[in-house]
Amino acid sequence: MMQVIQTRDYENLSEKVAGIIFDQLKGQPDSTLGLATGSTPVGTYQLLKKQPEHFIEATTFNLDEYVGLKESHPQSYRYFMQEKLFNTVPVKASYIPNGSATDLQEECKLYEQKIQASGGIDLQLLGLGMNGHIGFNEPGTPFDSRTHVVELAESTRQANARFFNHLDEVPTQAITMGIETIMEAKKIVLLVSGNEKVQAFDRLFRGEIEEKFPASILRTHPNITVVHDL
Ligand code: GLP
Repeated sequence: MMQVIQTRDYENLSEKVAGIIFDQLKGQPDSTLGLATGSTPVGTYQLLKKQPEHFIEATTFNLDEYVGLKESHPQSYRYFMQEKLFNTVPVKASYIPNGSATDLQEECKLYEQKIQASGGIDLQLLGLGMNGHIGFNEPGTPFDSRTHVVELAESTRQANARFFNHLDEVPTQAITMGIETIMEAKKIVLLVSGNEKVQAFDRLFRGEIEEKFPASILRTHPNITVVHDL
């Protein structure tokens, strides 16, 4: 079942999503949360920082990480999460794929095992890429994929170049939870904000369910809420 919540603006979207997360943690303090990076969840994370006490028993798993950036690199997702959330919100444990692992395939396997060991993801936050990617699952990724190494689409590298000094500095690979990994989350909250997402948003509802547009599979999830400000 897909529930769609239209909000007035970005602030209102962030309040809605933060509310959903607080409700989850009040009902089940030791929840396993799936977290996302990108600009869309930043407002939500700011609001979560106002009530850090809810997170003491929570475990978090991030969707993805660039390959080849150290944790100390300001554009690594570990660094991003530290800055945007974990420096103030003390979760029990936070996992992000290690994009500097020497054996990346092994790292992917381990990541899946850790998710299973924590009982699976109770609530997964997701952003929407302009090309329909979720996590770093680019168009054409099999729907039955698990955590894996991906080659980033040129359009994704260009979209993310704004955070780097130069396009050349944007990594060409990443580790991402697979589409099947994401779909196993008990609940999913998809955040969509901004005019540049209108087309992707439209295709999400009206297009075919096809691997060419990864987010389309979300329509088949039993418990998904789309929160948007379009
Ligand atoms: C990035 C991330 C995704 C994110 C998406 C949208 O490349 N890997 O996890 O959801 O693109 O980002 P934004 O929220 O900045 O539009």
